[in-house]
Amino acid sequence: MAVNLEINGKPVTAKAADDTPLLWVVRDELGLTGTKFGCGVAQCGACTVHIDGQATRSCVTPISAVAGMKITTIEGLGGAHPAQQAWAKLDVPQCGYCQSGQIMSAAALLAEKPRPSDEEIDAAMSGNICRCGTYQRIRAAIKEASGISAALPKTAEAVPAAAGANQGAR
Ligand code: FES
Ligand code: FES
Repeated sequence: MAVNLEINGKPVTAKAADDTPLLWVVRDELGLTGTKFGCGVAQCGACTVHIDGQATRSCVTPISAVAGMKITTIEGLGGAHPAQQAWAKLDVPQCGYCQSGQIMSAAALLAEKPRPSDEEIDAAMSGNICRCGTYQRIRAAIKEASGISAALPKTAEAVPAAAGANQGAR
C-alpha cells in the first residue's frame, strides 16, 4: 500500500505492507538511520520517534497507523535542539546506540514540560534503556536543556543501582 505522511517536515509517500513497522520505513526506505533497532518489541526505546509530537516506539507502530500524521526523527531535530546541545555539552553517550531514542523522549518531555521535575524526568524516560548506564548524565542533560543547573555525580556511589555498573567509569 502507499501511505502519505509527513516526515521531518516533508511530505512522504511510503510504499510498504500495512503492517510494516514505521522503524523500517524510516531506516530502509528513507535512509534515516539515526533511529535505531534495539529489541523490536517495545522494550528498549532505541527506536523512539515523535508521532504528532508524542514519543512513540516505531518498532511496533505499523505504517498503516500513521497515515496523515507528522513524524519527527532524530534527524528532524536539526542538531541545535536544546536537548542535543545539552547532550553534547555533558558528553552523555558512551557507546551511543541508545541515545537517539533517549534524546527523542527527552525532547518530547521538554516540549510538554519545559522544566520537568526529577520524578517527571524519570517517568518520561523510564521506557528508554541504556546498557552503558548513562542515566545520571541523561538526567543532568535534561536539566541542562531545561535551564536548570545540574551537576554530574562525582562518585560511582552517587549512582543508583538501576543506573548500571558502567556509570562513573568515564
Ligand atoms: S527497538 Fe523499539 S523499543 Fe526496542
Ligand atoms: S550509551 Fe550505550 S546503550 Fe546507551
